[in-house]
Amino acid sequence: MTAKLIDGRAAAARLRGRVAEAAADFRGRTGRAPGLAVVLVGEHPPSAAYVRSKIKATLEAGMESFEHRLPAEISGEDLLALVDRLNADDRVDGILVQLPLPGHVDDQAILTRVDPAKDVDGFHPINAGLLATGLDGLVPCTPLGCLMLLQDELGDLRGLDAVVVGRSNIVGKPMAQLLLRASCTVTIAHSRTRNLPDVVRRSDIVVAAVGRPEMVRGDWLKPGATVIDVGQERVEQPDGTRKLLGDVAFDEALDVAGAITPVPGGVGPMTIACLLRNTAVAAHRREGLPKPQGL
Ligand code: GUN
Repeated sequence: MTAKLIDGRAAAARLRGRVAEAAADFRGRTGRAPGLAVVLVGEHPPSAAYVRSKIKATLEAGMESFEHRLPAEISGEDLLALVDRLNADDRVDGILVQLPLPGHVDDQAILTRVDPAKDVDGFHPINAGLLATGLDGLVPCTPLGCLMLLQDELGDLRGLDAVVVGRSNIVGKPMAQLLLRASCTVTIAHSRTRNLPDVVRRSDIVVAAVGRPEMVRGDWLKPGATVIDVGQERVEQPDGTRKLLGDVAFDEALDVAGAITPVPGGVGPMTIACLLRNTAVAAHRREGLPKPQGL
């Protein structure tokens, strides 16, 4: 069997198109564009690259971008003061503080200071709690993008066996909540799980989000399974070049899976599109407008 490739770039382009329509409609109703503030602390090169992509996509969707680049030595108090200013700024509908933050800054103190109504990352405990109780909050971008790809591919997910490999607050836990909300039977596997290959082998849906390149092998998969690979790690090859690898051994999985996301071009583009989607949704909610169609 050769698995179908799930085209995350195409799905993300369609979602960005719907966000751009919602942003234009919002401008017509309110006289302003939805606004996203991005905070980047220090010089971590991958973070700087992500932030550049996020800002470019924000502007392309017809939204306003507020950029805050701060030195790595900034104090936790000064960062909290910036979050307070962004919380109070009516032009700002979404606030994203790019992680990782420097070691001397308490991540949780910063993330829990963001107004939950502007928390487009969905990292605030209020939004985590809303997701866990099945209420409408803001949902973390990467798992939301994975769910959209799964629903595009499979339609109704009800009753399917799903395994999420990885238990992070950013991906694993919210992914499991979303799959549960879609009525899957969900297993969360992690580094202490016994017989991980067997757990994966009984699953119709596999979401790999462990950050260990090629950990999930082809012979772990149930034939025909749908595989969503969240990993993206640059790994040096024997010839000295660097290759972007996912958490799934892609070439092996191609022979067994029914459908699989490639790396790159799978989940990555959906994360940014979902950030724009969350910003448009937050803007509409803050203005008391109905949720835009198709978002
Ligand atoms: N760093 C890596 N991924 C993310 C993300 O989704 N949000 C934020 N804020 N930082 C990140």
